[in-house]
Amino acid sequence: MEKLVIHGGNRLSGEVEISGAKNAAVAIIPATLLAQDVCRIENIPNISDVSCMIRILSQMGAQIRYINKHTIEINTKTVNSYIVPHEMTKQLRASYYLIGALLGRYSRAKVALPGGCNFGVRPIDLHIKGFELLGATATVENAMINAAADHLTGSPIYMDKVSVGATINVMLAAVKARGLTIIENAAKEPHIVDLANFLNAMGADVRGAGTDVIKIHGVSNLHGCTYAIIPDQIEAGTYMVAAAATGGDVLVKNVIPKHLESITAKLLECGVSVTEYDDSVRVQSDGKFKKINLKTMPHPGFPTDMQPQMAVLLSVADGTSLVSEGVWDNRFKYIDQLVRMGAKVQVDGTMAVFEGVEELTGAPVKADDLRAGAAMIIAGLMARGTTEVEDIIYIDRGYEDYVEKLRNMGADIYRKEILQQNDVESVG
Ligand code: EPZ
Repeated sequence: MEKLVIHGGNRLSGEVEISGAKNAAVAIIPATLLAQDVCRIENIPNISDVSCMIRILSQMGAQIRYINKHTIEINTKTVNSYIVPHEMTKQLRASYYLIGALLGRYSRAKVALPGGCNFGVRPIDLHIKGFELLGATATVENAMINAAADHLTGSPIYMDKVSVGATINVMLAAVKARGLTIIENAAKEPHIVDLANFLNAMGADVRGAGTDVIKIHGVSNLHGCTYAIIPDQIEAGTYMVAAAATGGDVLVKNVIPKHLESITAKLLECGVSVTEYDDSVRVQSDGKFKKINLKTMPHPGFPTDMQPQMAVLLSVADGTSLVSEGVWDNRFKYIDQLVRMGAKVQVDGTMAVFEGVEELTGAPVKADDLRAGAAMIIAGLMARGTTEVEDIIYIDRGYEDYVEKLRNMGADIYRKEILQQNDVESVG
């Protein structure tokens, strides 16, 4: 087990290179099940959620070849089962994309319910509604989702709520269904568009991704392809906020500025300077921030996955800021940790009121989930004194080489082995 040790106060400066998008990769990798052929995927982030998804496919019988740290070739021709047991799926939430992909391949799927970050109820009713409208029977028994159809038939599907996961799962099941599927009130995140582009590279016919309405004309066969995953919008946003929070000057490279529009807008509103270039953004700040109101919404609104990180910056803004969580019903757990560092916050349901303080002070804290962990790092970088962050296994799920990337920008941060209880006894 390891923890992070951060000595705060260093301004971040220089450059950081953004890796491939986690939430695109964990959808595209299972999508390779739809083509019994070789898919070469580039710009894959080297993070545990992605290696876990690759391991699941390998355990299902797929042939995986690592070309380099960020490029793999996957051939699912040798996969011969539609069953994915609990020991495989419990490691990450995105394992439920295997249902849509296996339905698309076999018209059959039996997948154990997923794990993943715990911030409130994470239902899958919209996924099941989509599968049923495509002609499958879908039941949950023994914590397994069992979906089956003689064959899948395209259908209009209205999403009662905007759901990234349900939109993706329906896309995966629909690309080889007979006829036309129309997904209304679809999610519009960059990773939805990236998956659509990957599916089309395999020969699918997916139109409208990135808008409220996605139309999918089913095709009988898909073939292999070569595809490069988009840069990670949330990793980029996290480093933008870290640069601003430390009063730094950082060029965030290998980004798609349009994907960062809402994050840039809120940083500008706080008084941070953000300059956009073709594939990079420069963030400069004097470490002083105006208060703002923040509401997280599905894309193109401000991303919920950036809420904890931005909230840390607001904890030292000049005045009182309101943060409204518009996607999840319980995504403020990290605030207990932030209060230990001197933040003044009142939480009431999906609303948090931040009364800006002069500075945060270092403390031992923990990562409650992936983005909460990123927020703790930002808090430690800007706090006076030393911060130790435990449970960093969550952070390893979604941020490639984050300690090295931060150290290259001047952060005083390192990993430290935590002595296990029995180690201490042996030393005693
Ligand atoms: C994806 O989760 C992301 N995970 C999450 O990012 C992200 O927070 C979320 O989308 C919103 O952008 C991955 O892509 C692997 P949803 P997902 O379905 O698909 C409700 C991270 O940090 N809902 O868009 O599970 C749900 O309760 C992770 O990278 C239903 O009611 O989110 C929530 O209130 C954390 N029924 C809202 O919709 C359903 O069937 C949005 O959830 C499905 C969802």
